[in-house]
Parts: sequence; structure tokens; C-alpha cells
Amino acid sequence: MPLRYFPKNKNDMKKLLTTCLLATTFAMTTNAQPQLRADNIDEVLKAMTLEEKAKLLVGGANNFFGAGAVVGGEADLVAGAAGTSPAIPRLGIPATVLTDGPAGVRIDPTRKGTDKTYYATAFPIGSCLASTWNTELVRKVGEAIGNETKEYRCDVILGPGMNLHRNPLCGRNFEYYSEDPLLTGKIAAAYINGVQSQGAGVSAKHFAVNSQETNRTAVDERVSQRAARELYLRGFEIAVRESNPWTVMASYNKINGEFSMGNHDLLTKILRDDWGYKGIVMTDWIGIREGLPTTREVHAGNDLMEPGQPQQVQEIIDGVKNGSLDIADVDRNVRRMLEYIVKTPSFHKYPASNNPDFKAHAAITRQSAAEGIVLLKNNGALPWKDGAIKTVALFGENSYDFLSGGTGSGCVHPPYVVDMLQGLENAGIKSSATLTDIYRKYIEYAKVKFQAERHPAKWFQTEMMGQQKYPEIALSPIAINKEVGAADAAIITIGRQAGEGIDRDIETEFNLIPEERNLIIDVCNAFHQAGKPVIVIINSGSVIETASWSTYPDAILCAWQPGMEGGNSIADLLTGKVNPSGKLTMTWPIAATDHLSTKNFPGNVDNYTFQMMVGYKMPIQGQDYTEHSEGILVGYRYFDTARKEVAYPFGFGLSYTTFEFSNPVVKAKGKDAVEVSITIRNSGKVAGKEVAQVYVEAPGSVLFKPDQELKAFAKTRELKPGESQTLTMTIPVRDLASFDEANSQWLAEKGLYVFNIGNHSRNILKMVQLNLPEYTEKTSNALAPQQPMEQPKL
Ligand code: BGC
Repeated sequence: MPLRYFPKNKNDMKKLLTTCLLATTFAMTTNAQPQLRADNIDEVLKAMTLEEKAKLLVGGANNFFGAGAVVGGEADLVAGAAGTSPAIPRLGIPATVLTDGPAGVRIDPTRKGTDKTYYATAFPIGSCLASTWNTELVRKVGEAIGNETKEYRCDVILGPGMNLHRNPLCGRNFEYYSEDPLLTGKIAAAYINGVQSQGAGVSAKHFAVNSQETNRTAVDERVSQRAARELYLRGFEIAVRESNPWTVMASYNKINGEFSMGNHDLLTKILRDDWGYKGIVMTDWIGIREGLPTTREVHAGNDLMEPGQPQQVQEIIDGVKNGSLDIADVDRNVRRMLEYIVKTPSFHKYPASNNPDFKAHAAITRQSAAEGIVLLKNNGALPWKDGAIKTVALFGENSYDFLSGGTGSGCVHPPYVVDMLQGLENAGIKSSATLTDIYRKYIEYAKVKFQAERHPAKWFQTEMMGQQKYPEIALSPIAINKEVGAADAAIITIGRQAGEGIDRDIETEFNLIPEERNLIIDVCNAFHQAGKPVIVIINSGSVIETASWSTYPDAILCAWQPGMEGGNSIADLLTGKVNPSGKLTMTWPIAATDHLSTKNFPGNVDNYTFQMMVGYKMPIQGQDYTEHSEGILVGYRYFDTARKEVAYPFGFGLSYTTFEFSNPVVKAKGKDAVEVSITIRNSGKVAGKEVAQVYVEAPGSVLFKPDQELKAFAKTRELKPGESQTLTMTIPVRDLASFDEANSQWLAEKGLYVFNIGNHSRNILKMVQLNLPEYTEKTSNALAPQQPMEQPKL
């Protein structure tokens, strides 16, 4: 029955009329001002003024150097987050918050006016995560990171870092995964799927060819189309196809003469047309830059300028008005922004707790780090069985100031870091009190000295930009000898720190400094004389020199920078609670100069350059371009083809048990793929996991091919002694193809393909073969070099 209302008097009548009027006005306004929903993007787009459209494409804030440094408004949403996309409240468009990564949420750990803290879990760095070769585990890490992103009221984590380890001297290699694009892409896709399963987003960065920090905002990376497609872009391609990242971050550098951020070939032809990418692209953090109009970035397919500057909004408006920018380009980008926004936690008004589950996340970081740590040498000294080692002499300043991660935007502020001392203590192992005292006092002193002497422009050398590394101290052989009696074993931690804005030098950062070398030799001499073992722990984000000293210690563990539970993860491996199963994701050369790329890798430490922040203009010095004259001969593609001796090959890592590989099979799977399988049996005495690595030798009569390339990998579950598992891997035929520059196409030649299966690139255990027909796939002729390229020489 309809509800009827009759006004009883004049007053009631007035009330009724006012209500009707208000209701009509409300209906009219909401009509004119649609509120954003997932299903009314067209309507919202239509309702937007040009100014609003331009505003949405220009980032809202930059908290990097303090809240609101660039544009106010949304700056204080999450203190310390890197930036935002702007809100347009009239249309129900919320601001979204972008926080650095990739090893955890990088926000300010404390805030003004409250005692509450906002520490975040420091997860293992990229190199460590990738060294697990375990995509399921990396996905779990991604889930935890996605959860923390959301719980700290952020929408997107600015990671994974996906640039290739072109050379071991790149300062940000710790954030990146590998010298191999397949491994990079698979690990990144696992991370992204993990984060995005939580309803938060990622920004796959830095797209692309950003494999050096020196002069990164200006350098022109001159690279062949083949090396670009097969190496530097390939990881991104896999990630786009297999995990659909919400956002991609365009790198600072130029590629073949054109800034990535304004590079239509890169951001539209390759990313969207060739790969079918559907998300948004944002710039790396630079704002306005000389020689690159914002209008050009918008046209190229850049949807969000970070960190935004008001002038850029005006530039877009003016561009449309004066015809230099097509409104269709603006609308296309705005639509993509709206499609992104409706997915975010901010849009869904997610009630962030600011209280992530540290306990659960600590367990994940402990487990993933233990699986990413690589056992490089073991003469039987490890594991320490049944409490055989009760007291350890702990040398090296990083044993007491353990580096959980790198510096710069990739650092995280964790609630604690478990150092070696704590990790051993938690495992019931005592350490020398004298050494603890010496090193702790030194670290206190070194911290103060370091900050007092720091060049003010070196912002990345403050604690807010990550833990710093203090020079190793010299210990006299007499002091070392005194430790032998009371200890059952010695541990020496060799630490290295690196990060954003600066590459590493060979002399003091890749090589050991005399204090470290002497420490290893003197400790080994003293302890070996007493028949006691010495273990070296490498606490570094990237590769260091080992060949000159690796004969001294009994065991070497590359622990990377394994996150805030580092000491516990290492103790788990030392005591055999976890059996090492990490494998290197890059070649460890004998000398840094052995890499073909070193010839063209800038190694000048004073040559630091930065993005131009407002009021913080750094000089741009250094070289203007980097010639990738090594072409595709990066990492093992070079070392294995040239048969050059290395310290540790790609894919290498020891275990406490042994494995047998048997029953290799390769067969066609439909006409587009190949299936490879292998059975792995634990033939040793303790449980463990093993990685099957498939390296393909392909016919190369038309195009040169490296001796072999990683085309698939898989890790077993934990196998008990005697237990077996058959691993089956699928390789799409297009993954076997090389880029044929002359014809702008992917080409896999017809002929015999050899599938080498082993547990590192130089330990091939089984081999199977298959004849395949030719495969071709046309692409655009994007990213053509502007000048003839030097050809790689073996
Ligand atoms: C870095 C990015 C980072 C951004 C925001 C830039 O300098 O290159 O990796 O995400 O700053 O902090």
C-alpha cells in the first residue's frame, strides 16, 4: 500500500516544499557531478573539466624530503610515502598513495605529535629473493608486502625493481634480481601477483635500461634493439604478460637518444601495442626536466607525472589549447588513471589499521631469506651438528651492525634488525664478550664520525636513507690469537653497502680493503692452527671479489642483505635447521673487469648525480652516454660463451645433501610450446631442496646465439633422503626466439635444440634434444639506435 502524506497546515506545507526543492537540487547536482564508480568511468571522464583532467595526470605530493615539499594538499596522507595521485573530490576521485619499496614499505617510522610508530617489515632485498629461485615463496613475500602496503594506508608499492644486473658495479643491483631476464621476469611476476592478490598495486620499475646510477637522469643508454628486446625489456615483458602490474615506472635515462619518460616507442609501441599492457605508467621522481615537455610525456603514454609540479598542469592545459597536445591523448591517459583508481584501497575506503602483523611477516622474511642465502663454499665445516659449536668468536663490524637492506629509496625502516650476535644467541650459541665490546664501541664512534664528515649533498648517507656501512677496523694478530682458546669456531662478516644515486667502485667496494683481507687471513691462520673452523658471511647486496681469498675459510655463505631477521636466517643455516638451497642469480667474476660490460660501465664514485628536486639542484656531470657494446653478451651469456673462468658461475649454490638428476624428457606441447621434465632424487643424508635449471643451445645459422641461455627453471619441494620429485616445465616456443633486427621480428630458427639440464650453468647433468620448425613473430621497429652500434666481440 502506498504511503501517503498530507500536510496538515501551512508550516508543514512549507517544509514539504523545501524538502522537494532540496531533493531536486541534489538530484540535479549529482547528475552533473557523477561520483566515480568502476562502471561509470565514461560518465566521469565526460564530466571532467580540462583543468581537472590535467590535474589528475600530475602527481599530488612528494614526501621524499619532508611532507609537502612540492605540492601541498595530499602531502600529509602518509608521512614519508613517496607521492600521491591527486584527489578530485567533486567527482568522488580520491587521492592514492604511492610508497617506496621494493623490500618493504618505506614510510617515516615516527610522526610528529604521536608516540605511535610506523616501522615496516624489512624483507630480503631483490638479489636475495631471486636467489631462492622459488616463485611460490616470492609470491608469499609479495602477499605480506601487499598487506603491509594496505595496512599503512598506501595503495601502491614502488617495486619490484627489475633492471638487469648488467654489471656488478651498479649501486642498485641489490634492489634488482638477476643478470638473466627470464629469472627477473618470473620472480617479478610472482612478487607482483602476491602484492596484487591483497588488493594493493605495484610499480614495476625502472622501465627501462636503467642498469647504472651514474648520471642516471641524463645518461643515454645506447643499446641494440636485440639486446634491448632480449635482455633489458624481457623481464618486464614477462611480468606484464604474467602478472599485469597496476603501474609501471618509466626510468630517468634516455634509450637511444630519447628519455624513457617521453618515449612513445617504449611506452606505447612496445609496452602496450606489442605486449598488451593495460595499467598506468608513471614517471620516476623528477617533475619538470629540461628538454622534455610534459606534453610529450603525455603523448608518449605517461599517465602520471611524479612528483607533480603545478606548472605541469598548466603545460598540459596550454598544450591542448594551442594544439600541441591532442585532447584524445589526455582523455586516454585520464581514463587509464580512473581505471587504476577504482582498484585501489583508497577508492574502496579500506580501513587501514597502521598495525601490520609483524610476527607473521617476520616468519616469512626469516624463511625467505634462509632460502635465498647461497652457500658458496663448504669443506664439511657446516652444518654445526648437535650443539658441537657452543661459542663463536665473531669478527667484522657488520656482525654487530648487520645490514638488512640497501640505501636510498629502496631502504626500509624496520622495528629491529637481528644481527649475527643476536641470531647466534637466539640459537643458543655464545659469542666472545671482548670482541662484542670492541666492535660495539667502534660502531658508536664510527657513526658519529661518519655523520660529522659526510658531505651534506650525500643525502643517501643519512640513517633515514638506510643503514650505513662503516669502514672495517684492523685487529692485531695478538688480539685475534687471544680469541682462539675460548671459541669453537670463528665467523667473519664482510659487509658492503650500496644504493641509489651512486655506483660502486672496484677498489674499495668490489674488492676487499686491506683491513678485511688481513682479518680473513689472520683469523684463518690463528683458528686453523688450533684445528677450529672459520666461516665467512658476506653481507652485501651485490657481488664482491672472492677469488683471491676464498681458499682461506672453511665455508662461505653469501647472506646478501636478508631483511630484519637476517641473523636468525643465517643461524638457521649454520645449525642445519634449514638446508641451503639458494642459487646465484648472477655470475661472480674473478675480477670486476672480467665482465665485457665493465669497459663501458662508469665507475667514478665522485660522479654522483641526482634528479633535480625543487630547490635541490645537483650538478649533472659525467658521461652523456653508455654504449652497450657487449650487446647480448651480459653475465653468463658472455662468460659461458667465451669459456672464461669465473669465481662462481650463474646458478651456483651448495647444499648439505646431494641430488641425482634422471629421466630427462623433452617433447612438443601443442605447436607453441615445449615441455621439459626431469626427476630429482635426494641422494644424500638430510632433507633439502634443489633447483632444475634448463639452458638451451639453439641453432644459430642466421643469428648469432650465445652458447646457452636459461629458458626454464623449477625448484623441488623439500625432499627427504631417498625421496624423488619430477619437475615439469613449459617453454613457449617464442621464448626460444632471438630478435632479428633486420626484419623487426622474433625468430627461432628451424633445427635441433639442445636442452641442458643442471644445477648451475656449468654443471649440466642431463641433456635432451628436439627438432623444431621455424618460428617468427613480427614486431614494430621500435627503439632503433640513432647511430651505428659497436658489435660485441668475444
Ligand atoms: C627512485 C625510484 C623511487 C622514487 C620515489 C626515485 O629517485 O629512482 O626508484 O621509487 O625515487 O622515491
